[in-house]
Amino acid sequence: MKVSVSFLSKEYSQTELIKQINKTTTNYIHVDIMDGKFTDNKTNTFSEIKKLLLNTTIPLDVHLMVNNPLKYIEDYALLNTEYITFHYEVVKDIKKTIEYIKNFGIKAGISINPDTNVSLIFPYLKYLDLVLIMSVEPGKSGQEFKPSIIYKLEALKQKIIEDNLNTKISIDGGMNEETIPLIKDYTDIIVSASYLHSGNMQDKIKEIQTL
Ligand code: DX5
Ligand code: ZN
Repeated sequence: MKVSVSFLSKEYSQTELIKQINKTTTNYIHVDIMDGKFTDNKTNTFSEIKKLLLNTTIPLDVHLMVNNPLKYIEDYALLNTEYITFHYEVVKDIKKTIEYIKNFGIKAGISINPDTNVSLIFPYLKYLDLVLIMSVEPGKSGQEFKPSIIYKLEALKQKIIEDNLNTKISIDGGMNEETIPLIKDYTDIIVSASYLHSGNMQDKIKEIQTL
């Protein structure tokens, strides 16, 4: 399985975290962007985030937890970005938003909140490179995994196989040594912040990568 490390943290300095992450074999850096509207919390401005990520060569996996993703896509497309993911709940023209991301040569992802029905995104699966299943309410790191989302992963994986697609499944929120085994059979990429920030980050990443 692949790993995407988030640097969203209340406990540690983001500069320090990025320094540490740069020394690991993580597959991606998960860039959590929050606008204070879709979520209560708000993250740094683009120029601050750009500065933080200046010296990293690790591909970015950008998670836009914002009401108006179109406003953010061009900026983040210009960084070392592999995926840009927006939320189903706030976008009217899903197809147009996917195409807008892809026009920059970036892979497009869609994310759904714990209470959003997974079958709502099935019509778009063939256009998507990634589906990010939220296993906590978007907004902050360090929350507890919601086991009620497991059935969504199963249904999604089954649909992707049935339709013979190559869409990847990612999970975000509350991942740790107890919750990872519950979802590993249905997931391609694990997003994690708090679990990987404490203890030996590289050892934990390696362990997930062998699953
Ligand atoms: C939550 C963010 C997550 C968060 C994960 O709103 O989208 O990416 O950083 O944090 P942990 O792994 O601590 O649940
Ligand atoms: Zn995230």
